[in-house]
Amino acid sequence: MADVTFQLNGQTLKAAPGTLLIEAARQNGVEVPAFCYYPGYSLQAACRMCLVDIEKAPKLATACTVPVAEGMVVWSDNEKVRTARKTTLEFLLTNHPLDCPVCDKGGECELQDMVFTYGANGSRFVEEKNHVPEAKWSPVVYYDAPRCILCYRCIRVCNEGMGVGALGLGFRGSSSEIIPTRAIIWIAKSAVCASTSVLSERLPAERIATRRVLGKCSMSRLLARIARMVAR
Ligand code: SF4
Ligand code: FES
Repeated sequence: MADVTFQLNGQTLKAAPGTLLIEAARQNGVEVPAFCYYPGYSLQAACRMCLVDIEKAPKLATACTVPVAEGMVVWSDNEKVRTARKTTLEFLLTNHPLDCPVCDKGGECELQDMVFTYGANGSRFVEEKNHVPEAKWSPVVYYDAPRCILCYRCIRVCNEGMGVGALGLGFRGSSSEIIPTRAIIWIAKSAVCASTSVLSERLPAERIATRRVLGKCSMSRLLARIARMVAR
């Protein structure tokens, strides 16, 4: 099938039919910010960081779910888009601690980088942040809910990448958290778990403590004990 021709930020470009806008942009050297999009895994459209302005569309659209189309005219960087990204970051920081200097991920954090890029350094929220204590899922895995931006990368890597399904989403709205699922009961009984052969066999949650899952966390909110508070 012939490539489709579209416009991105005033440039006329081509991409294979069906290519997602975010990928078509990347193929042409234009980076569209993203937290939840991860090539090869199911699409979530959860974080809203990849919003782009498409001519004649009634509202901004997520570049991670919309494929290029013939004649499409797209802006990935205009005033409207920058304002939307800044607002998205403001929301993501609603309950997020602002302690980058002492955070394990500080200096190599995707969220921190985006805030620097889009200038979301102020907040209109005056309410007290909703603090949830860090959860110790096992001797090696810690989960820090207020820092988690619910990008669901960990769930997808564990489920689609490793076929384990030990992580899921619990609670609703601003109380949502990543939680170990009932699958860990099965895993606990299972003699073989390809993902965690290097880790202790004592507790089921240790079985999800693989570099494969932990390494995909954009915020380092699923943290291995050996890195916690000593990595920096
Ligand atoms: S723990 Fe990390 S990878 Fe999982 S949803 Fe939260 S930020 Fe994303
Ligand atoms: S990357 Fe598109 S919504 Fe998250």
